Amino acid sequence: MRKKIVAGNWKMNNTLQEGLALTFRIIDLLKENPADHVKVIVAPPFTSLHPICELINKEGVIHLAAQDCHQEKSGAFTGEVSSDMLFDLGVKYVIVGHSERRHYFNETDALVLAKAEAALDVGLRPIMCFGETQEQRSRGEHFDAVKKQLENSLLKINPADIAHVVIAYEPVWAIGTGQNATPQQAQEMHAFIRSTVAGKFGKNAADDILIIYGGSCNSKNSKELFSQPDIDGGLIGGASLKADEFVQIVRSA
Ligand code: 13P
Repeated sequence: MRKKIVAGNWKMNNTLQEGLALTFRIIDLLKENPADHVKVIVAPPFTSLHPICELINKEGVIHLAAQDCHQEKSGAFTGEVSSDMLFDLGVKYVIVGHSERRHYFNETDALVLAKAEAALDVGLRPIMCFGETQEQRSRGEHFDAVKKQLENSLLKINPADIAHVVIAYEPVWAIGTGQNATPQQAQEMHAFIRSTVAGKFGKNAADDILIIYGGSCNSKNSKELFSQPDIDGGLIGGASLKADEFVQIVRSA
């Protein structure tokens, strides 16, 4: 059976002190009442990764992700952070291809693939994000849109590495809007993604791969979303910034 993942993507929120306090509280709550069936991940901004990593190494219980990485190992790329640097710090996962990066930083499917490969090369697990826009869904093109993203990136991953990839389905129209995909809408897209993975990498790989949902997921809607057969947890934005709310979401998985 697939283990569930609940990951908190803090985006550009929390100073170091705020981030440490939030991580402390999450760890405390999970120590009080463990949720061992769920892999809990936090993705703070780069500036907080090192101290939060030290805290996590000391306390255990949760795991650490970065929100992005550069596709090259090193070089003259002012302002960028490589997958090597993240791995060296103790980071285990990295989000790539988030729709905010695609939208605000013009990231293409090819770049998302390059970043995922850079992560895999050093032993980081990429959380690869996919999802359609509102316009694509209203035109009935949501499956085609996601399929194209998958074909241009995920399906080009080396088959030997696919077991290390986590997929996040994040419909753009659901992110930060308070309008989550219904469990039925999410389930049918997750099933579609899983069957697309099966078509390329085989049934076993598809059965094992984790596909998590993101987009206005909170403690009120998470239980029904996570109980769908192809939804293996969540990638949580706004609701991951409060420890109690985030841990409630973890417990619903
Ligand atoms: P919200 O949960 O704030 O909608 O954000 C989802 C998201 O983008 C997680 O990566």
